[in-house]
Amino acid sequence: MRSTFIRVLIAVAFIFAVEACSPSTPVEKDMEEIIDEAIMKSVAKYKVLGKEMQGMPGLLPRTLDEHEKLVTATSAWWTSGFFPGTLWYLYEYGKDEEILTLAKEMTARVEDQKYTTDNHDVGFMIYCSFGNGLRLTGEDSYNDVILTGAESLSTRFNEQIGLIQSWGSNDKWQYPVIIDNMMNLELLCWASKKSGDSTFVNIAITHADNTIKDHFRDDHSSFHVISYDTVTAEIEARNTHQGLSDESAWARGQTWGFYGYVMMFRETGLERYLDQAVKIAEFLIDHPNLPEDKIPYWDFNAPNEERDASAGAIMASALLELSQFVDDAKSKRYVDVAERQLRSLASDDYFAKDGTNGNFILMHGVGSKPHNSEMDVPLTYADYYFIEALLRYKKFMLEKS
Ligand code: GLY
Repeated sequence: MRSTFIRVLIAVAFIFAVEACSPSTPVEKDMEEIIDEAIMKSVAKYKVLGKEMQGMPGLLPRTLDEHEKLVTATSAWWTSGFFPGTLWYLYEYGKDEEILTLAKEMTARVEDQKYTTDNHDVGFMIYCSFGNGLRLTGEDSYNDVILTGAESLSTRFNEQIGLIQSWGSNDKWQYPVIIDNMMNLELLCWASKKSGDSTFVNIAITHADNTIKDHFRDDHSSFHVISYDTVTAEIEARNTHQGLSDESAWARGQTWGFYGYVMMFRETGLERYLDQAVKIAEFLIDHPNLPEDKIPYWDFNAPNEERDASAGAIMASALLELSQFVDDAKSKRYVDVAERQLRSLASDDYFAKDGTNGNFILMHGVGSKPHNSEMDVPLTYADYYFIEALLRYKKFMLEKS
């Protein structure tokens, strides 16, 4: 009896000694603090970048070059809507008047893209800028811009093929359709609701259905480019443009498709899109090459190469929205991954220190590795979906009760 007592005493003493010697586990900040801090710092960064852009009429920021010098582009570059769109999200958070002025000014710079009919990016360009502006201010003149943009995008839909053509035809592809195109469908869904003309949403549904049929592999990863024969409407090629190989899972492409189906379920209520979104989510979350911090390598088949912060941000934002549409167990699983991603992106590993990174918010994006273009750099769309995801976390997780 006595020896048992002594053994217990020794065991307890041992546990205390081990506790005392081990380094104390750092207490993780709570998400509210992380979000507030990240957004306040982002507001400061974008005010500086915005002022710089005010001195460059007609241009939008794009990235940094190898000498850390700002690279700009005209509104015709596919990313033109993201800088104004991020300004709108930052305005939504704090109602800062200086940010509002910048948001309006940078949005106006994109307006001429409402007439874009030679590529599919009109959705990104017009809806991220004017769409957010309309949502937050109700500015009536923005309605016409967005509706015109939707009409322009619709001209790229071919009834026989049943898809919107992404890029122009060339020697390699007659009718290329890329997975990214799923993102442009939100513009069409909006246009039907606004105009009462169901043509727009019907195009979006047909495109989304055919993309499920043709773009996805059995494991629910997707090809980047599917090209069609314009005479027979049959698939002529399954390729990549920005991924490691035709058969690989280019990270940002996977997240464009994922986000696109979550959005299409929100917009149409069609269960097949929810089902597709869940399948893609499971592919991404369970992928053996998804790193511990949950920020994907630029291609899921290129482990230990560059990370792509933009893919991490897009995935986090889509997971948070998907968490609102599924049962509690799945919801928790998706929020846990998204939270890990946001903690990673808001950490020193990805979130730029004050006065660095050309005042873009995030570091470590990859534009197109096969073209050695925009390697390990800031990207305006990484910033956009990161801030969107932070606001979604705040809305869904912190303000819901
Ligand atoms: N849509 C082009 C890209 O994601 O890089």
